[in-house]
Amino acid sequence: MKLLHLFLLFTLPPIILLLPLFTLTSLHHPSSTTTTTLLQTQDHFSLLISIFTLPDHYSHRHFLRLLYPTPFSSPSSTIHLNFIFCNLSKPDQHLLIPLEILRHNDIIILNNCTENMNSGKTYTFFSSLPHILPHPYDYIMKADDDVFFQLPNLAASLLPLPRRDLYYGFVIPCTSKDPFKDYMSGMGYVLSWDLVEWISVSEIPAGEVVGPEDKLVGKWLKVGGKGKNRYSEKPGMYDYPGSNGKCSHELIPATVAVHRLKRREQWLHVLSFFNVTTQLQPSKLYHL
Ligand SMILES: *[C@@H]1O[C@H](CO)[C@@H](O)[C@H](O)[C@H]1NC(C)=O
Ligand SMILES: *[C@@H]1O[C@H](CO)[C@@H](O)[C@H](O)[C@H]1NC(C)=O
Ligand SMILES: *[C@@H]1O[C@H](CO)[C@@H](O)[C@H](O)[C@H]1NC(C)=O
Repeated sequence: MKLLHLFLLFTLPPIILLLPLFTLTSLHHPSSTTTTTLLQTQDHFSLLISIFTLPDHYSHRHFLRLLYPTPFSSPSSTIHLNFIFCNLSKPDQHLLIPLEILRHNDIIILNNCTENMNSGKTYTFFSSLPHILPHPYDYIMKADDDVFFQLPNLAASLLPLPRRDLYYGFVIPCTSKDPFKDYMSGMGYVLSWDLVEWISVSEIPAGEVVGPEDKLVGKWLKVGGKGKNRYSEKPGMYDYPGSNGKCSHELIPATVAVHRLKRREQWLHVLSFFNVTTQLQPSKLYHL
């Protein structure tokens, strides 16, 4: 109740504004068949990338919003991004975060977990989604806030994959090529919507919510016999060159996601490599 109350309080008006957008996405939802299936085809999918971060990281959210069109749309996909907090804990947050929601409408405050990534935030997040999102997505991705996504490549990578029972990401350990053996790195893993619904109702995840969050998700799926469709995106997902031994390699054009961007110069290197400003047209209004 508390969760729903806060969520509605903060986001109801913007959600209404966004409804026309949401209806454009293709949706696969086993329990809501009639209303949202008009545009549904295997050739188009919807993805929500949910970046786990902390309320106080205002300037980093501002920076991340600069990087991506919202939503990102291509003939095959519609991708939304949002930011996930557990709760607000300081007086200034109760002013500034609502203001941010008014401007961007891209924040979820779960309101019943603690911010430590390994203390149950992931369980609360996935188990809450079916109750709080205005509509389902084909896929939900949990992502860290030190990751750059090359969205066109991510979209192309997901397009041919199954829309159900899918567990996608960068399989750990770094050198592993077997997505069925272990789990996907917390840098960014995708679950199809049916798995999100399963997490929200199954006793298996509910019974073990504290621990390394990415490893836990892998364990839930293994114990539950879920995630029969798996895909490890290598070499498209990796750690920033030099940052973590075997998980990292040089930047490549076929990048889906680069992880461990801790310093400003690392971000700038990645943004310049991917030519993020080339579509800007010359103008009399600015000299660059
Ligand atoms: C909210 O956050 C504070 C500070 O991080 C924490 O101490 C508190 O337990 C959290 N409240 C809930 C309901 O989780
Ligand atoms: C938080 O709320 C969600 C949705 O109501 C619920 O599924 C989950 O169990 C709650 N988590 C905690 C830690 O209370
Ligand atoms: C960025 O632009 C340069 C110059 O046009 C080009 O050679 C390079 O392939 C582009 N990089 C990527 C990742 O597309």
